This record gives sequence, C-alpha cells and structure tokens, in this order.
Amino acid sequence: MTDRMPAGFSRDQEGRLLIAGRTAEAWAAQAGDTPVFVYDRALLAARVAALRAAMPAGLQLHYAVKANPMPALVAHMAGLVDGLDVASAGELELALNAGMAAGAISFAGPGKRDRELEAAILAGATINIESAGELHRAGVIAGRAGRQARVALRINPPFALKGSGMRMGGAASPFGVDAAQAPEVLRAMAGRWFDFRGLHIFAGSQNLSETALLEAQRETVALVAELARHAPAPPPLVNLGGGFGVPYFPGDKALDLAMLGKGLADILDARPASLQASRFALELGRWLVAEAGVYLCRIIDRKTSGGESFLITDGGLHHQLAATGNFGTVIRRNYPLVNASRNGAEWEILSVVGCLCTPLDRLGDKIELAQSGVGDLIAIFMAGAYGRTASPQAFLGHPAPRELLV
Ligand SMILES: Cc1ncc(COP(=O)(O)O)c(C=O)c1O
Repeated sequence: MTDRMPAGFSRDQEGRLLIAGRTAEAWAAQAGDTPVFVYDRALLAARVAALRAAMPAGLQLHYAVKANPMPALVAHMAGLVDGLDVASAGELELALNAGMAAGAISFAGPGKRDRELEAAILAGATINIESAGELHRAGVIAGRAGRQARVALRINPPFALKGSGMRMGGAASPFGVDAAQAPEVLRAMAGRWFDFRGLHIFAGSQNLSETALLEAQRETVALVAELARHAPAPPPLVNLGGGFGVPYFPGDKALDLAMLGKGLADILDARPASLQASRFALELGRWLVAEAGVYLCRIIDRKTSGGESFLITDGGLHHQLAATGNFGTVIRRNYPLVNASRNGAEWEILSVVGCLCTPLDRLGDKIELAQSGVGDLIAIFMAGAYGRTASPQAFLGHPAPRELLV
C-alpha cells in the first residue's frame, strides 16, 4: 500500500509526512494549533514556471485571487504572474496591497456595487463589464469622478467548456453579456468616460480534457475576432479564461501542459488579422495553487459503530468544505488523505470525519490508512484552492483554521 499524494510531498525515515522539508508536526507546532492549512511557496513557484515553460511566449498569466486569497500567498503570486483577477472590492484592495500594478488587475463578477465600481475606477483597475446596465453605471461614476473607467467586455459565449466541473457558457447566464448583445455594448464603450481594454471569456472550471480546453480556446479566439469588429479599438488584451483542472480523485489524470501549450500556440499563430496586435492572457486559480496546499487536522477520538471505524478530527467541512464533497460535486469521492504522523506497516480501512454534528462532515470515506490513533495528524492534500474561504467557517462556532505560507 502506498500513499496517494501529489508530487512535492514525501515522508522521512520515520514515516512522518514532510512539507517543504519539515514534518507536518513541526508546522502544526509553528502554527500554534490545529487545524492548519500549509501552503508551500516553492511548489507555487514551480507551478508557475512549468506553465510558463510550456505556454507560447508572450502569453500572460493571471492569478484568480478567489482560489486562495491568503494575503501572503497573494503577495507571493503577485511577484510570479502578470496580473491578478479579483471578484470584489475586498479582493481589489488585497491585490493592490500585494503590490500588483492597478493596470494589471481585472475585476469580474455579476453584481458589482456602485462603490465597488468607483473603487476600481479610482484605482485604475480594469472592470470586466457584465451587462449594459453595469457599463452605464460605470460611465456615470467615471464622469462624476472625472476619471475614465478602464473597461473590458465579459462575454457569455454561445459554447460551453465541455466536461467542466462548473460550466459558465453555452446557456442563459448571469455572467457576462450574451454574444448576440455584445456588439451594442462594445459600441457603447466608445464613450468619452471609457478606456477600452479588451475582451474576456470564462467558459468553465476544473476541466481535465486537453481537447475540450483547446476547443474552447479555439472558439474563444474566433468569437473574439468576430466581436472585435464592433469595439472602439483593437482589443489590447484578450483574456481567454482558463478552466484548467487538477487531479483530485483516483483515475484523474493531470493535464498535459506540453499538449496544451502547443495547441494554444497553433491557435494564436493562426489568429485573424483583427487580433494581430492583441496580447492574450490565461486566467487560472485552482491549477496554480490547489496542489501546493495541505490541510492538517488532529485525531481527537477513535471509535467503532456498525462495524465501521471512525477517526474523529478537530477539522471539518467548516474549513475544507470541498474535501467533504459539498462544494460543487455531484458524487462524493475522497480527496488524497494520509496519516501524517506515521506510515505503519499495518493498514486499515477507516472513515475520517470532522468535528461538526452533521453527517455531511466526512473528510475520508472508508479510506485505506496506516493504523491511526488519537493525537495523530491527518493530512488532506489538494487544499490550496477553494479551502478556507470557500467553507462555512462560522457554522457551529468552532475556531478558524490557521494558515501558513512556508
Ligand atoms: C471569472 C472567473 N475567473 C477565474 C476563475 C477561477 O477558476 P479556476 O479556479 O477553476 O481556475 C473563476 C471561477 O469561478 C471565474 O469565475
């Protein structure tokens, strides 16, 4: 029996899990308590480097802050990528505090309030406009402030990113402007209070098919080329979205970066004349950060019921909702999970649960683990994206998890 864990993690001679060269127990001690999320900065940098090496030269890389907004991690990422994508005025402030130039920040989201539009305009960030009404409001606010609003159009494409964990295209949607309505909104961007920055399409998330991703990119470039005819200027930047997935479950295969890079280079090389002067960007969250994070929690009880053995931990869905299968998945499957304190010769089938009194709080269902007891640390991998801030922390009043960037 071998552990199922992502590349970059190993065990020492005593069988203890090593994260960034130190034991999980050492990181828990440094954090002062469990549960704790540990993010490995070297793994984050390696991820960005691998992507850049495979992608066409000149393709920009943007980090979607929503995947993991820990301030230290965002500051680390800001030094590695070309832009940050934010989804609220709060994330905008975070991105600015991380040292990212305002001109390299874009703000998407279907419900931006006036004060959020104003904050983006005053900072000089690009607003990904999601409706004709939003463009109108941005124009009024810009006029009042005497400052042009930097605007890009987010398009709801008529195609979907096939096989995505989350589809955001090919149907009625609150996100972006339907392609059929886009010409009119683009023409309005010629107004005096707008500085047209380009186009944005985000068609889906958590996709593990290179073919589907490339097909969506091909359709995106064709659609953008067609719509660009209605824009006030050639689009300075085309944000292609992303949707690159990561292998959470047994049988999932990591994306082939070389294949994606080659395919994208072919698409961009063949782009129409109307996009010759445009720059292109990928906008990725999960793919950049998920595998660099581990969630550590401690076993506080062990018991049997109905012939099943349970390890009860101080962690749970209030910190790591996704690992319990309650964040956007239809069928619950186990995230990679190991005993971080030992790698015994004896293995058993155990269920690992959190400390919340709801049957939803199941971190590992009948999983093969080294013999485990009270006091051992459990490590759940793939915890770098949509963990702490995508979980209902206030539910049942347990303490917040700690976070370390190491
Ligand atoms: C507009 C936009 N950009 C980026 C992302 C990040 O997606 P992912 O973390 O799957 O890369 C999302 C996810 O919902 C999104 O809606």
